[in-house]
Amino acid sequence: MKKDSHIHWYPGHIAKAERQLKEKLNLCDVVIEVLDARIPFSSTYNNIETLLGGKPRLILLNKADLADRNELKLFVQKIKEQTSCTVLVIDAKGAKDLNQVVKKVLELAEPKIQAQMAKGLLRRAARAMVVGMPNVGKSSVINKLTKSSKTKIGARAGVTRQQQWVRINKDLDLLDTPGIIPMRQDDQEAATKLAFVNSVSENAYDNETVAQELLNILSRKYETQLKEYYKVDELTLENIAKSRNWIVSNAEPDITRTAVYILKNFRDGKIGKFILDELE
Ligand code: G4P
Repeated sequence: MKKDSHIHWYPGHIAKAERQLKEKLNLCDVVIEVLDARIPFSSTYNNIETLLGGKPRLILLNKADLADRNELKLFVQKIKEQTSCTVLVIDAKGAKDLNQVVKKVLELAEPKIQAQMAKGLLRRAARAMVVGMPNVGKSSVINKLTKSSKTKIGARAGVTRQQQWVRINKDLDLLDTPGIIPMRQDDQEAATKLAFVNSVSENAYDNETVAQELLNILSRKYETQLKEYYKVDELTLENIAKSRNWIVSNAEPDITRTAVYILKNFRDGKIGKFILDELE
């Protein structure tokens, strides 16, 4: 098993993902960017405006059920100030519908549609797509948006590659597959946080290093809560393994099992509701 502390990323994959993303972007009026509410800054792309070619963007902070709600409000405010985008807080796994998302997308598309009508074209449905990093909940958002409408409509004239669209209502069509924003993280801290939320392939990092880093980062803000949850005085993998009596040969604590356990606890929201990015 690798023991270095880096999250690895592959320029070849990134270039390909960017190309695929751009092909889809060309077809859309509006982009719905899904972020993970537990890492609102680390789950966006450094240069997202350029990557999206300046398309109107709606930002969804998803998995809000796993994030600290009060702190999240401050992040919403900050992201609005920084991007001038509309930001909605959602839980794509929960029961609530995403009508608000549809409404905002239509508002964002309207200027372009109006401009086309001013040139003499007939009014048409707005076209949107969902983008985001792996595992942030893009497919869950698409499923929720398309749940009540499964009208598939095929590729249109002028579109070279087959892209499948779903009609959400008479005013909105959505691409049925998301655009994947590649992880391009020269910033290792952001990359590590993406590993915490399972947004990075497991082959790209070492579980033990990442689990210990999760404990370190969580302790900055939530030390007491964490110590209570794991019932240890010092937050190390060794201590947590010993406290659970997870011992391997030679009476060594079972670090491998503990690392997997801690990452799973966090991802399942068992330890608590957290936000791991800093506002400043
Ligand atoms: P992706 O397309 O961006 O890769 O993400 P996807 O929708 O596949 O969601 C990734 C995982 O996150 C799924 O869990 C999904 O259920 C979960 N998820 C999506 N949105 C939310 C949310 O708002 N809150 C919570 N708590 N989870 C969410 P999974 O374990 O892969 O599958 P399963 O849990 O559906 O079995």
